[in-house]
Amino acid sequence: MANLAIVVHGGAGAWDIESERMQVGLAACREAALAGHAVLKAGGSALDAVETAVHILEDCPALDAGRGSYLNTQGEVEMDALIMDGRSLNMGAVAAIQRVRHPISLARRVMTDTEHAFLVGPGAGAFADQIGFPRCATEDLIVPPEANGSAPAKPLAGPLGDTVGAVAFDIHGDLAAATSTGGTRNKMPGRVGDSPLVGSGGYADNWTAAVSATGQGEAIMKVVLSKRVCDLVSDGLSAQAACEAAIRLLEERVGGECGLIAIDAQGQVGVARNTRAMPYAFVMGEDEGGMVDGR
Ligand code: GLY
Repeated sequence: MANLAIVVHGGAGAWDIESERMQVGLAACREAALAGHAVLKAGGSALDAVETAVHILEDCPALDAGRGSYLNTQGEVEMDALIMDGRSLNMGAVAAIQRVRHPISLARRVMTDTEHAFLVGPGAGAFADQIGFPRCATEDLIVPPEANGSAPAKPLAGPLGDTVGAVAFDIHGDLAAATSTGGTRNKMPGRVGDSPLVGSGGYADNWTAAVSATGQGEAIMKVVLSKRVCDLVSDGLSAQAACEAAIRLLEERVGGECGLIAIDAQGQVGVARNTRAMPYAFVMGEDEGGMVDGR
């Protein structure tokens, strides 16, 4: 039997490590990793595991995805998500989607229910309505500072975190990746970052690795960061070494800050960042004793 593995992240950024918000985000990462691991242990697919894990992260008010997403300059929530199946390279993505609690599941429906791979803005919303995908009010996605672990007097000066993601390796040795985000704080309406862009915010290929990225989207997309990690694994680097090398490349080439999680085709895990912090959790192996978390 393949060695099961799942890694999740709650977003790289200038977190206050001691903050209540970090504790809330870290707890969500642990819960998401364990939920995804339970799917894998029951024989579920890597694709189901990453969707399950990202659901929990999208529900966490301390993290920038789903409920808790950053607002744009017009006070609206526009979210981006990507899911990818390492068996087939099938992928689904949505960008600038509004009024859904779980963009990652809508991205999966784009993959499974359309002939396309990527829907944006009103077209993505119309698709959601067409298939009866649950819609919510914008207010359901907006979290007051006191509800996401930040004291009201300390209203998120600077980005605390950014984006959530998960990668998994299942019983069949298949890989999958999922990334979901509310984007950046005070972004222009219509701005789309790296997260839904295949190869930038995520990538999954059974031949190499599954990767999810977080950080400065405008930098990450320029170097197609997640695919870089897969290419480095293809060159013979471990998942850990590939994540570290890709971040060095990002720094040297475009000067960006980010975090990466990865699992390679042998089920080995990589986690790296050049930001102050990034809550993450992973489980390697058959039991929850393989659980590791960090920031
Ligand atoms: N990394 C998420 C974004 O830039 O939108």
